[in-house]
Amino acid sequence: MRVLRNIGALATCRGDGGQGDIHVIEHAAVVWQDDTILWVGREAELPLVHETAESEDCGGRLVIPGLVDCHTHLAFGGWRAEEFERRIRGESYLDIAQSGGGIASTVRATRAASEDELVGRAKAALAEMRQLGVTTVECKSGYGLDEASERKLLRVYRRLRLEQPTRLVATFLGAHVVPPEFRDRREAYVRWLVEEMIPAVARERLAECCDVFVERSAFTLDEARGILAAGRRHGLAGKLHADQLSDGGGAALAAEAGALSADHLEHASPAGIAAMAAAGTVAVSLPFATLYLREPPMPARAFIDAGVPVAVATDFNPGSAPSYHLPMAMTLACTMQRMTPAEVLKGATLYAARAIGMEREVGSLEPGKRADFAVIDAPDVTQWLYHLRPNACMHTVVDGLTRWIR
Ligand code: NIG
Ligand code: FE
Repeated sequence: MRVLRNIGALATCRGDGGQGDIHVIEHAAVVWQDDTILWVGREAELPLVHETAESEDCGGRLVIPGLVDCHTHLAFGGWRAEEFERRIRGESYLDIAQSGGGIASTVRATRAASEDELVGRAKAALAEMRQLGVTTVECKSGYGLDEASERKLLRVYRRLRLEQPTRLVATFLGAHVVPPEFRDRREAYVRWLVEEMIPAVARERLAECCDVFVERSAFTLDEARGILAAGRRHGLAGKLHADQLSDGGGAALAAEAGALSADHLEHASPAGIAAMAAAGTVAVSLPFATLYLREPPMPARAFIDAGVPVAVATDFNPGSAPSYHLPMAMTLACTMQRMTPAEVLKGATLYAARAIGMEREVGSLEPGKRADFAVIDAPDVTQWLYHLRPNACMHTVVDGLTRWIR
């Protein structure tokens, strides 16, 4: 049994209340045994039975649930720094995609990369993410787009679960774009996804979720509807890249399909927002993609006012969001999306967990949940996200075990 004591502010991030309710306990303590939280409360009320447990002093700092990065494209080959510069000089994301760059160029590099190389790179990224307080990460395939390479990416994630401590949720994104070899027969590609690949991924338990990129350069609403339905039939939870560069009706489709989340949403329509509110779909905002592609901010206030839970994630990928610094994305959500620091913290913990079907296990500090937390060198959440330091996280605990301390 172990105890964290002298916590100045403990943001428990319980599910009751709204986006900004993070249920802070001051002068708190947390008790856990093995990988499970036993007790959370004011230190003065710590039950006597826990008094003898091995304890650690937080020095009056902030403690938060381990952060959940609920949208990443974690494993890929190569980088695309030259496109970053081309966009700065005026080309658009879609221009670059049409000229053979963009996702297609990462697909070439990913197909050429070995499984070991992909594992090594992703492992290094996950280690740095843990140092920032991130303990759960959703990771998508989608840079293979043929059977061997999509399987390779999903095997990378399976190996990573065994070879490193961060909790992973894998998402099959075979519907990222139509690969070049199917350019003139896109129906055949969609048929292959629906009839062969999705059933195989589900049967072999290679992923928990299934995602589709709905955009002019990617998949249509009708194609996405069929792909999400196939995922559902085979037990994969739906997710959608929706309304990122234009309003394509993706928000409403995510709601209609019973998806866990719709992500990006810079251009979501009022009707799409209302549909997500009625269905309980999580809106995942991705401020790095907004920033790097110079899109208008995701209208977080409209979502929150409508009662839609808003999550915040990095979208880490080599094109639109080449960073996995979740606390920095959180600060951007505050400034660009006008979310308060408390609203953003709930969006990177409990609501992020909901967006990947992990809400029962992680995302808040409550008895019975996994002992994942981060000790932040700040007195409260507002000071933490306001004073953006390279890394304010002092100590990360995953599954009850200390994984990073300085
Ligand atoms: O989430 N929108 C589609 N997919 C990624 C970008 C992928 C890429 O550019 O490589 C995204 O922004
Ligand atoms: Fe993405």
